[in-house]
Amino acid sequence: MAATPAGRAVKRLVVLVSGSGTNLQALLDEIDRVGREAYGAEIVAVGADRDGVEGLARAERAGLPTFVRKVRDHASREEWDHALAEAVAAHDPDLVVSAGFMKIVGKEFLARFGGRVVNTHPALLPSFPGAHGVRDALAYGARVTGCTVHFVDDGVDTGPIIAQGVVEIRDEDDESALHERIKDVERRLLVEVVGRLARNGYRIEGRKVVIQ
Ligand code: GRF
Repeated sequence: MAATPAGRAVKRLVVLVSGSGTNLQALLDEIDRVGREAYGAEIVAVGADRDGVEGLARAERAGLPTFVRKVRDHASREEWDHALAEAVAAHDPDLVVSAGFMKIVGKEFLARFGGRVVNTHPALLPSFPGAHGVRDALAYGARVTGCTVHFVDDGVDTGPIIAQGVVEIRDEDDESALHERIKDVERRLLVEVVGRLARNGYRIEGRKVVIQ
């Protein structure tokens, strides 16, 4: 698998969210701060798998188009995946950023956007994949955890790793305190990685991601 978002000087990002959208906000703030040309990308739309989440409200406040595709509004998972892929494709993205999007995309989505979908996960993959990465690291008794920005493949949090950030686990941590410290590192890492991918282009060589 190889991919380089070439062509446009300012790459088009579609961001997918399911929750509070603080990672989305970090991207919006940085693009605002440095300008889309200097950052190398702009957010052209925000999608979600549910209504009423703060991530969508943040997008609306930023004046961005939004869309919602809920699994339960479709007859099958495949139909939902098709609808999500269509909604994303309508915005012609160079990169899709899954920023706290709590759904696994399907075959069609990956066939259309594979090698261009970046996800952020709140643990040091390949440890603690899945929906409870923070809780699982705590329960395991790990002394360090963190976050991983990676490309999405057809597994659960198994795609090629782009960058990771480390966070120490403290004796007094509960899931929410630890998650907040992880998110602090995660937001900075995501902003840095997406900007570098957009500005420099990249290749995926097996499990290795080479940013040019
Ligand atoms: C992040 O920690 C992400 O890795 C996880 O959910 C959190 C989303 O946070 N899957 P936000 O919605 O960006 O605030």
